[in-house]
Formats: sequence, structure tokens, C-alpha cells
Amino acid sequence: MTVHERPWWRRGTIYEIYPRSFQDTDGDGVGDLAGIERRLDHLTHLGVDALWIAPFSPSPMKDFGYDVADYCAVDPLFGTMDDFDRLLAAAHARGLKVITDLVLNHTSEEHAWFAQSRASRTNPRRDWYIWRDGRGDGQPPNNWLSIFGGSAWRLDEATGQYFLHSFLDCQPDLNWRNPEVEAALIDVLRFWLDKGVDGFRLDAFWMIYKDAQFRDNPPDPDWREGMIPYLRNKPVHFGDQPETIDACRRLRTFVDAYPGDRVLIGETYLPIARLMTYYGAAGDGLHMPFNFKLIQAAWDAREIDEVIRRYEGALPEGAQPNWVLGNHDNPRAASRIGGPDAARAAAVLLLTLRGTPTLYYGEELGMTDVEIPPGREQDPRAINEPGLGRDPERTPMPWSAAPNAGFTNGDPWLPLGPQWATDNAETQAADPDSTLYLYRRLLALRRAEPALHSGGFTPLGVQGEVVGYLRHSDGGRRFLTALNVSADRGRFDFEGSGQIVLATRRAREGQMVSSGVALGPHEAVVVLLS
Ligand code: GLC
Repeated sequence: MTVHERPWWRRGTIYEIYPRSFQDTDGDGVGDLAGIERRLDHLTHLGVDALWIAPFSPSPMKDFGYDVADYCAVDPLFGTMDDFDRLLAAAHARGLKVITDLVLNHTSEEHAWFAQSRASRTNPRRDWYIWRDGRGDGQPPNNWLSIFGGSAWRLDEATGQYFLHSFLDCQPDLNWRNPEVEAALIDVLRFWLDKGVDGFRLDAFWMIYKDAQFRDNPPDPDWREGMIPYLRNKPVHFGDQPETIDACRRLRTFVDAYPGDRVLIGETYLPIARLMTYYGAAGDGLHMPFNFKLIQAAWDAREIDEVIRRYEGALPEGAQPNWVLGNHDNPRAASRIGGPDAARAAAVLLLTLRGTPTLYYGEELGMTDVEIPPGREQDPRAINEPGLGRDPERTPMPWSAAPNAGFTNGDPWLPLGPQWATDNAETQAADPDSTLYLYRRLLALRRAEPALHSGGFTPLGVQGEVVGYLRHSDGGRRFLTALNVSADRGRFDFEGSGQIVLATRRAREGQMVSSGVALGPHEAVVVLLS
């Protein structure tokens, strides 16, 4: 297969849109589908290849759309199905792919399936969800904990049984062991594939199967007060079951029967060895199980180098790597890893590693987490588990110096960051030293160079606090990335010479370097080797 024949998802870059916060067009303070369409030019100028839109289907919005009440419709808050069709057509007309979010693990308690399931113990849909008797004395069926805090079981008074919820107690888990459930969900895939979507991001995918015997999870002896309560027990019987890998294959077979290169990307918070099994033993599983190792790693040269090597080293033959720096569930890179300069270096890392990068909206502006004043929290997790709320990374995109940063004519659902009037997409577009410019240059370079979008990877190790690696294509150009992960000056020595073609400090671009490159604090460069 030549480089140009590789499917788009093996070459391209994905951009995650959290639709509530991208662009509002109807003045209700919440973004919508028409808003995404209005901003497509931003994405084409940026140079990404695909957008993944977080859920927009009808939902009581307890978990902002990850609690689906109807899979094959659009919530009026986000617009209409016509708006979606227009958005899809407009994206495709610009050569952008569209990936939608598919919540397979659970529905909202307001979904018609669950209404039937909870209606009586004998309802034909009873077994579409996971119901168990308690252990007596008001004890839930076992010790499984919800990822969002508390027991994973909720008692339904009317029928006297407990239902399982991996997340909020209004998000009942579907029973994947019932083939009717899988068939119904396959119909959902069919609905969106027939519309022409280019793939799915499968929400909470690693969780879809649980232990068939409902065994208790063992306590984790390393758990300490202050750690995420959910991890108090090792979730060995809760998620990531062998049956999940079989499900990967069945979904893949279904999706691959469609023309065009449709893609399945799984949300998979798993250790590297387990993550790899989701590709399928014969490459017949998910196209890309999400790799969150950069989100989880400390911003430390040795740790970053090691994570990259371990991940690269574990990938099965032919499997497509992928990298993620941020998403709607984790603190933003610019806040997590030590400021805007470090975030710029991280952009170089994300976009020059081997594999498909996923950007989170606003990362291209160096957006930081926004402090949410007391009383304005929206994420139920912030209320369940103080300190673990995800509102700070979900705030509206600052587009311009217009009122509310051009995001809405109404009151934004979450506050804007404090700098929006002077630091937004418009001001950055006018400043060649901005983070937006850096992202555009990186994405343009990546797209132009087979070594970067499709080539090989060779780690060069760590020198001081600088991580170095090579990217190369057969008989083609070779690029060296050197990334200073510290606030001190650094240096990376290498054999030969070359020219800096991209740098976090633009003034360095064009410089010739020989046998090594000196780096300022948090500086990253890409050198075209001669
Ligand atoms: C996934 C989503 C997250 C959501 C959860 C429950 O982890 O990314 O936002 O709350 O699933 O659906």
C-alpha cells in the first residue's frame, strides 16, 4: 500500500468538538450543530482531517448527552436532524470527515428501553439492562463501585431489584450479554452509517461487558485516601472482559462492510498490554483503541520517553498508533503540564509522534482550564465528587473580542476564561507567534511530509530533560524532534546536521544546526536532517 492509498484515519488528524461549547447560534448559551457548521472554516484553516462531535442526541443532559434517551435523533438544544445533515454535507464538501459519539455501555434512565425494562420483572425488555437481587439487609448485589462515586447499583423500589450503573445512577448499563441489545445497537450504527458518517467514537467501550458471575472486586492495597474513590477496589470483574474483544470484531465486521473508510475508535482507559488486545488478534478489532498515556503521564522527560517506547513496543504488527493530549474528561494540557509554553512543546510532541493525533477543541489556542465560581458548576460529577468535576475543561471557545467572545448572544452555560477579550481565535490568527499559528504550521508540515504522517519512528532517548526521536520514511526525508520538557535550558546532541523546519519559537525556523541543537526552556524543534 503506498502512502496515498492509506486510509485517511492512518494519515489524518482528528479534532474533538464538545458541542455545548463550540459555537451557539440561537442565543441559548449552549453551542449547537449549526454553530459547528458555521465554524468549519476554522477547522480547514487549522488543517485537521476529521471532527469527532461529542453526543448531541436527545438526553435529559444529566451527563450532558452521554445519557442518551433516543439514539437516532437530535436534541432540540443542538438543533434538528436537518442541521446535522447540513453539517455533514458541509464538512464533506470541505473534505472533512465526521465521527459521531456512540454510547454503547448505557442509556439514560429516560430511554424508552429502560422505561420498559423497569416496568416489571417480566417485561420483555427486562433483560436489556442488568438487574440483580440485593444481598439482603439493604446490601447491593456486590461491591462494584461506580466510576462516578458510590455503589454501581441502584435499588428500583417498584420492582425490588437493583440495576447496574457504571457511571451516574441515572445511566443504567445495557446488558450486552443479551443479543437483542447488540442487535438494537447495531441498528443505531446502521442509522448513522447510512447517513454517511465516517465512523464512531465508542464511549466507555472498555466497560461494556462485566463479569458474568458478578464476583466482588478485590480491594486495592495501594489505594489511599484522596485517590479516586472508584479505584478503592481493583475493577478486575468490572469492564475489560474477554467478551469485549469478541464484540470489537463483530462491530468491525459490520462497519467494514460499508464503502469508504469508516473508523471505530474506542474509549479505552486501560494499561498498555490490555489496550493492545482491542486491536484484535488479527487486526480485526477496533481500528484505534484510544491511547490516553500522554494524558496520564507526568510532564517529565524520562516518563514521556518511556511511555512512548512502551506503547510503540507493544503495538501489534500493522496496528495504527494514536495519541491524545486532552479531552472533555481531563484537565487541559496547558493547565496540567505547566503552562502555555509547555503546552506548545506538547503540541509538537502530539503532532510529530507516529500515529493518529486527536486534538481537543481549544488546544490550538492553548486554552487552559477555567476556574468555575462556586454555584456555577454544571457537571454532576463535581457535585458527587468535589474536585473531580470536568467543567473547567469544557468552557466556551473564545472566538473573538465580540461580546461573550463571539460564542453566544446569550449567557454562556459555563464561564469564559479571563483572557478571552485579548486572547482568542481572531487575535491569534493575526499573530504569527501565536499557538494557533504553531498548530497550523505543525499540521501543514505533518500533512506534507510522509515521514511525519505515515513514516517510521525511532526513539533517541533522553539527554538531560530533552526527549528526542526520529521520524523517517523509506528513502525519504528524516526529521528529528527534540523536546525540552523543563523550564531550564537544554541541548540534544545528534549525528549529522540539518535545518530547523519548525519550532515553538518561530524565530528559530530556518536555522541550520550541526551535531546538536540547543533549546530554550520548554522549547521544541523539528529538524530536517540533511
Ligand atoms: C465517557 C465520556 C464521559 C461520560 C462517561 C459516561 O467516559 O467521555 O464524558 O461522562 O463516558 O458516559
